[in-house]
Amino acid sequence: HQAALTLDPAFRVAPVQRRTFGTFVEHLGRCVYTGIYEPGHPTADEDGFRADVLELTRELGVSTVRYPGGNFVSGYRWEDGVGPKELRPRRLDLAWHSTETNEVGVDEFVRWCRKAGVEPMMAVNLGTRGIEAALDLLEYCNHPSGTALSDRRIAGGAKEPHDVRMWCLGNEMDGPWQTGHKTAAEYGRLAAETARAMRMIDPKLELVACGSSSSSMPTFGAWEAEVLTHTYDVVDYISCHAYYEEKDGDLGSFLACATDMEFFIRSVAATADHVGAKLKSRKRIDISFDEWNVWYLSRFQNADPPSDWPVAPRLLEDHYHLADAVAVGGLLITLLRHSDRVRAASLAQLVNVIAPIMTEPGGRAWKQTTFHPFAQASRYASGDVLRVEPVCPSYETAAYGQVPLLHAVATHDERSTTVFAINRATDRPMELRIDARALGGARVVEASTLSAPDVYARNTADDPGRVAPRPNPDVRHDPETVVLPPVSWNVIRLG
Ligand code: AHR
Repeated sequence: HQAALTLDPAFRVAPVQRRTFGTFVEHLGRCVYTGIYEPGHPTADEDGFRADVLELTRELGVSTVRYPGGNFVSGYRWEDGVGPKELRPRRLDLAWHSTETNEVGVDEFVRWCRKAGVEPMMAVNLGTRGIEAALDLLEYCNHPSGTALSDRRIAGGAKEPHDVRMWCLGNEMDGPWQTGHKTAAEYGRLAAETARAMRMIDPKLELVACGSSSSSMPTFGAWEAEVLTHTYDVVDYISCHAYYEEKDGDLGSFLACATDMEFFIRSVAATADHVGAKLKSRKRIDISFDEWNVWYLSRFQNADPPSDWPVAPRLLEDHYHLADAVAVGGLLITLLRHSDRVRAASLAQLVNVIAPIMTEPGGRAWKQTTFHPFAQASRYASGDVLRVEPVCPSYETAAYGQVPLLHAVATHDERSTTVFAINRATDRPMELRIDARALGGARVVEASTLSAPDVYARNTADDPGRVAPRPNPDVRHDPETVVLPPVSWNVIRLG
């Protein structure tokens, strides 16, 4: 196959949003316990945090981390997780049919964020709770001192306010599986009133209203319209959540899953703008794509729930292969291509639970295949996102019709320009010609590729480097040309 694309700094979409590279830590399975936190682990620090996981989190290039859920948050009493650990109650977690020990709560999480160098992003419970609990948590976290709640935080050892800027108003409230699931009208009212009250404490907070749990929800579109009609003036973002998996051996459709994300983003942006027009508002609502990933959800749905309320069970521990990493790369490209509208995103999740980082209790931490596209995009995306429109062959997919074989985006700053591209072709390489004349004759200085002879190759704790980016030797100059292997994620740097 042959493809071509043109790089031109004049075709600027928006600055790269650092918050595109957010992730998510939920009290779910082993994400918190034996994930980020494991006192007694050989690498545990004085707070019980695993230093190996902290190091991998930094290497992953994570910007923000959403917490504490997810479905978990819709039954969560945040007060359970603060104060002396020995007094913290054990509770049933209805969302994941587990027992929550509350050894980790908001103070520990924020402490972990500071060590990891990431920004915390909190969610409040609008499932079983409401305005008062949200206000209390906000005051506890962000008020400097001199009130019962802020002094309680200080007494617990957090002298400085946590200064959490971004808050999710509940989680997936459109989903019947959510504890306290609501209609759009019920949720819209509650979210608006919660937002209004939270802004009385701090008008500068960045607030996220729940959008749809997927583009295939029966209420998709109508939900966003109703919720934003209530909340338009008091929120900054509407959320999107999307998970993809290979179904029935249809690899072609799976590798094209970013097509659905594209549809999702365009539809939600259009719906938000429509509401804005009706309200005669000049304000624009942005998108927080605060859960996205490959998730073999059907495997989870077909498994029996654990019946004995375990603590930190192995749940949602998907082991990703090369094709999953290429799909993740394609989704990252789509998020970047929409940087003018998608101003925050969270890969769900960070450790063990559908995650780029895996751990063994008491043992090692290692990188899944999906670690690599995320880490490379976070590391090399800088300056402005450039619009690129590849010219390439397309292929027929059962799920999305005709889809281009090449999916790409570029970023540009004064030092370099980087192309991120996936080759969806399963049968042969793609020769990509890059027209860089508008960059003053910049040349390809580095090219790496993530590919494998077996598209289902995985990394394991014993062989964590099996699927990793390697230098791409297939580079030619004048004109700049790089050959992309079949089913591959590629980073091409020009300077
Ligand atoms: O990330 C796993 C789960 O997926 C989250 O708890 C929920 O919000 C979504 O359905």
